[in-house]
Amino acid sequence: MKHITIATKNKGKAIEFKAFFKPFQVEAHSLLELAQIPEDIEETGTTFEENAELKAKGIAEQIAGPVLADDSGLVIDGLDGRPGVYSARFAGERATDEENIQKVLQEMNEIKEDERTARFVSVLALYIPGKGTFFSKGYCEGKITFQKRGINGFGYDPIFVPNGYTETLAELSATEKNRISHRSKAMKEMESILQELF
Ligand code: IMP
Repeated sequence: MKHITIATKNKGKAIEFKAFFKPFQVEAHSLLELAQIPEDIEETGTTFEENAELKAKGIAEQIAGPVLADDSGLVIDGLDGRPGVYSARFAGERATDEENIQKVLQEMNEIKEDERTARFVSVLALYIPGKGTFFSKGYCEGKITFQKRGINGFGYDPIFVPNGYTETLAELSATEKNRISHRSKAMKEMESILQELF
C-alpha cells in the first residue's frame, strides 16, 4: 500500500480524497491524522494555484513523502468572482460555513435567478520529493439558490445547484457529488500523473 499526505485539516475534504485514492491502492491521510499535527500554512497567494503550491510545499518541508494540496473555492459571477480564494474566510477569519453562506445569500438578495451563475474551482498541487510539483484543475458549474437546502457535504454545498440538477450539492449523496464535483474532475486530470509518477 502506498501512502500520501493530504495537506488539509478540513474533514469534508479529507473524506472525499480518501474515497478518490482508494481505487489506486493509495492510502490517503489528512493532517489531522498525523502524530504531530503541522502548523497551518498561511494562504497568502491571490490565485488557487499559488495557494495550492504553498500548502503542498509548506507541508512537505515538515513531513516525509508525497503531499497533495488542494485549494478550492466558489466563484460567483454576480459578486465579481468573490468569494474565490477567500471562500473559507468570506465572513471573517474564523467564519463558520453557516456565516459564509448567510453572507453570500445576503449579498445576492437582489440578484435574479438567471444571473446567479457560479462555479466551484479546485486546483490540486501534488509535490513528490525529488520530482517536483504537478498541477491539475477542475470546475463544477451551477447556480446559487435563494435559500439553503440539504444537510450533506460541507461549505457552500447547501446553496449550490449544479447544472443539470434541481437539488443542491447538500441534497445529493456523497457518491453523486463525487461524480460531478470540481475536486473529482481535478483528481481525474491528476490520474495519469499519479499512475506515471507515484
Ligand atoms: P480552502 O481550504 O482554502 O481550499 O477553502 C476552500 C473553501 O471553499 C471551503 O472552506 C469551502 O467554504 C469552499 N469549498 C471548497 N470546496 C467545496 C465544496 O465541495 N463544497 C462546498 N464548499 C466548498
